[in-house]
Amino acid sequence: MPHPGPDSADVLDWYDRNARVMPWRMPPVQSRAGLRSDPYHVWLSEVMLQQTTVAAVGRYFTAFVSRWPDVHALAAAEDAAVMAEWAGLGYYARARNLLKCARVVSAELHGVFPDTVEGLLSLPGIGPYTAGAIAAIAFDRRATVVDANVERVMARLFAVREPLPDCKTELRALAESLTPDARCGDYAQAVMDLGATLCGQQPQCGACPWRDSCKARALGIAAELPRRRAKPPKPVRHGVIYLARRPDGAVLVETRPEKGLLGGMLGFPGSDWVEGEVQHAPPLGADWQELPEEVRHTFTHFHLRLRVFTATVADAEGRFERVEPASLPTVMRKVYALAGGRGFAYAGG
Ligand code: ADE
Repeated sequence: MPHPGPDSADVLDWYDRNARVMPWRMPPVQSRAGLRSDPYHVWLSEVMLQQTTVAAVGRYFTAFVSRWPDVHALAAAEDAAVMAEWAGLGYYARARNLLKCARVVSAELHGVFPDTVEGLLSLPGIGPYTAGAIAAIAFDRRATVVDANVERVMARLFAVREPLPDCKTELRALAESLTPDARCGDYAQAVMDLGATLCGQQPQCGACPWRDSCKARALGIAAELPRRRAKPPKPVRHGVIYLARRPDGAVLVETRPEKGLLGGMLGFPGSDWVEGEVQHAPPLGADWQELPEEVRHTFTHFHLRLRVFTATVADAEGRFERVEPASLPTVMRKVYALAGGRGFAYAGG
């Protein structure tokens, strides 16, 4: 007799025994008793978790909620403070939208997050993934939550051979077909946990709660799925960046324009980042020295190579600040570290 197909109860049983512990998560024992995580915590964690691993998010989440314990506190924060706290997580538009959203929820909704997918979707920075995740996890609404982990699980469970991203709609429909009417938040997190652990790049099918109904496992092709259309190679862009340091250790900084890469983040002045020839002029007159090494950093759509010039200046005009490397985006941290931080080890001693 053919197997009846995957049952959400099997993955929920597995989750009851194996749920990962996360600072924003209500453990399944308490969730079954009807307790829910604070919607502010769910929203914040889900925005942080887009394109970012659970391991990387942990300390950022803890820092945010201890500094800004509720949505009113976050809404009242200075933009620069929030951007500095986000530094290193990447995809900085998320932080700008986070603040916009906090300010709408605080000022227009009395600090109360909407409890439906439709209501959540009307907020800045909340798309279908985040709206579904908050509705399911914070309010136990029946919502289908599909991230890359869930896509992998569905592609294997139903042996979907069409490559990503072409099969996205199909994978969402399959995920939708399995979503139960009860324990929706636990179910959403159970499938994400399964995808992040047993059903990862190297599937551990023997321990999987869905092993008997998994079509890819039956065909012996679990590790090959999901297929992915070949991505075009990333171009290399070049740029020049200037690090001017005063004897007291303060360096010349700028806030990057809101629109564009690293928008709203602290950085050092420099050229545009281009594939062709770099046009550049120093931000002030000084004895600029080029460092012997370049900084390399990879963004979503390109690799960057930056030539770094440093100078020590006595009493120059401009926005000189002592910077905390932790408040810089990663590429700027690399520039600062290569230049030897406050000491400028490479620049003439
Ligand atoms: N990835 C994104 N959100 C998650 C969650 N709530 N649980 C597990 N993995 C996740």
